[in-house]
Order: sequence, then C-alpha cells, then structure tokens
Amino acid sequence: MPHIVLRLSLTTLTSEVDDGQQWKIHMHPMLTNAVKAARRAGTIINRASQDVGSIKVHSKNYNDFVSEVDHAAERAIIETLQEVYPDHGFIGEESGNDRTDAEHVWIIDPLDGTTNFLHGFEQYSVSIALMSRGQLEQAVVYDPSRNDLFTATRGRGAFLNDKRIRVSNRAKLQSAMIGTGFPFRDFKHLDTYLGMFKDMIKNTAGLRRPGSAALDLAYVAAGWFDGFWEIGLSKWDIAAGALLVQEAGGIVGDFEGNETWIDTGNIVAGNPKVFAQMLQVLAPHLTDDLKSKYQAVITE
Ligand code: IPD
Ligand code: CA
Ligand code: CA
Repeated sequence: MPHIVLRLSLTTLTSEVDDGQQWKIHMHPMLTNAVKAARRAGTIINRASQDVGSIKVHSKNYNDFVSEVDHAAERAIIETLQEVYPDHGFIGEESGNDRTDAEHVWIIDPLDGTTNFLHGFEQYSVSIALMSRGQLEQAVVYDPSRNDLFTATRGRGAFLNDKRIRVSNRAKLQSAMIGTGFPFRDFKHLDTYLGMFKDMIKNTAGLRRPGSAALDLAYVAAGWFDGFWEIGLSKWDIAAGALLVQEAGGIVGDFEGNETWIDTGNIVAGNPKVFAQMLQVLAPHLTDDLKSKYQAVITE
C-alpha cells in the first residue's frame, strides 16, 4: 500500500513540474515583454476601477465609448514595447496604425469591454498580439480584476498563468455552452444575428454574453466555453484570443470555416467538434455579406 501512495504522489508531482517547465520554455522573450506591457495596462485599469464615476468618457460613435483609461493603458503598452522594439509596427484601437508594413506588428486593445468597465461590471481585459510577416506569433489576454493571464506563442501551447490550457472535449453542440457578442453599435446585421441567436438557443445548452470578446476567446481556449461567435469584430478584439484558441487545440474560422475572420471580424471559434456543428447552425442565416468573400476573391 505505501508503495502505491508514493507512486501516486510522484505522478502528481511530475505532472506539476511538467506544466511549470513547459511554462518557462513557453515564455518567449517577445511574450515576456508583451506580458510586462499588459500588466502595466492592468495596473492603470485596476487603479481607475476604484472610482469609475470620476473617469472622463467620450463617445466615439453611437454606443462607442472611450475613456481616459483606454488611452492611458494603450500609451503604457506602446511605450513598453517601443522601448524594446523601436522598429516594430503598431495597430492600436485608440492610437491607430503606425508602420504596419514592418516585419513585426503589435495589435492592441488596451481595454476590451469598456462598457462593462464604465459600469463597474468586472469583465474586461487587455489584449495584445504580435503578428510577424502576416502570421500571429504571440498572444496575451490579461484580466486585471481577477489577475488571470492567458498567453500563447505559436507552436508552444496556451497557458492560463503557469498552467497549460486546452479546449473542451465536449462532442455535442446540444450540451455545449457558447459565448457570443450582440450587435450594439451597428445594426446592419441585427436581424440576421437574431436568427442565428434563435437557432443557437435551440441547439445548445446555453448562450452567454459577457462583454469582452478577447476574454470570450480565452474562455474557449480554457475549455470554459465550448465555442464562440460574433459578427464584425475588429482585429484588436480577436487577434490574441484567436491564437490562444488555436494553441489550445481549437479551431478559428469565419462563418464558412475559412481564414477571412482576421479581416472581416466575422468569427467562430470552438473545439473541433463544436466548431463544425456551429457552422451548420449558422449556414442557413448567411447573407452574401457574411460569406467568405475575401476567400472567394483570392481563388477567382
Ligand atoms: C467590444 C467587446 C465586446 C464586443 C464588441 C467589442 P470594446 O470591445 O469586445 O464584447 O461585443 O463588439 O467592440 O469596444 O469594449 O473594446
Ligand atoms: Ca475591443
Ligand atoms: Ca477597447
């Protein structure tokens, strides 16, 4: 008996050490710097969250708010990265594009879930991705209110803090929990979305709309959501989260399963089985605008 107990505890110990060792190997220098930048932004966000009532807010467009916190967090991220990588390009939600033809381009959403943040609803994140020669290489999604750090480097897996994460292995959409985002600024696709929503309600165990697309994707990577879809997101909402999903063994595609998602922002993500079933549910609702137009242009 004691022999068995000893073997069991050694196995537990070994698997813990393995995750920790993998985490150290996983920490590519560029990822380490992205984490440093995300944590600096997180400190600014956490401090400001103590008194959201006093934050200065501007409306960019209908239902599109930006606060001084979004700007301060983005400045902190760009300054941190620019200090180490003066030749890199940037696509930042608040400061726009800079040298996007550079070999390495950082894609930044300093505060994903601004509406939640301004209401004191603690579901928001910092999202930073690195695209090198057109390929996503590094990803950080940081939830500052829970101190949850999701990271991935292409080919090295996805992690939550120092633990490896994987997408769920739930096989049936009918028992899946799916994240989504509602249209709330541009209502062009609202009726189409409501059709999708109705069919998803009928074909799943439940839908959730937490309000930070980057975190929704991180939750798919962690296996907490089995899938996610949303129409018309921006690059900075999805770049980091998508790499997390792929490195956790999941699939990311547009509504027809193709690669246009990074440009169109029409995105589906999930474990491989749920992903395929989500495409089937979405298919009858696809207007021309939501099909893989870009892909069609390339193959013509
Ligand atoms: C928004 C959030 C939200 C999604 C919106 C995004 P923001 O980002 O990700 O979940 O539904 O489409 O624009 O504006 O808070 O950075
Ligand atoms: Ca966003
Ligand atoms: Ca934002």
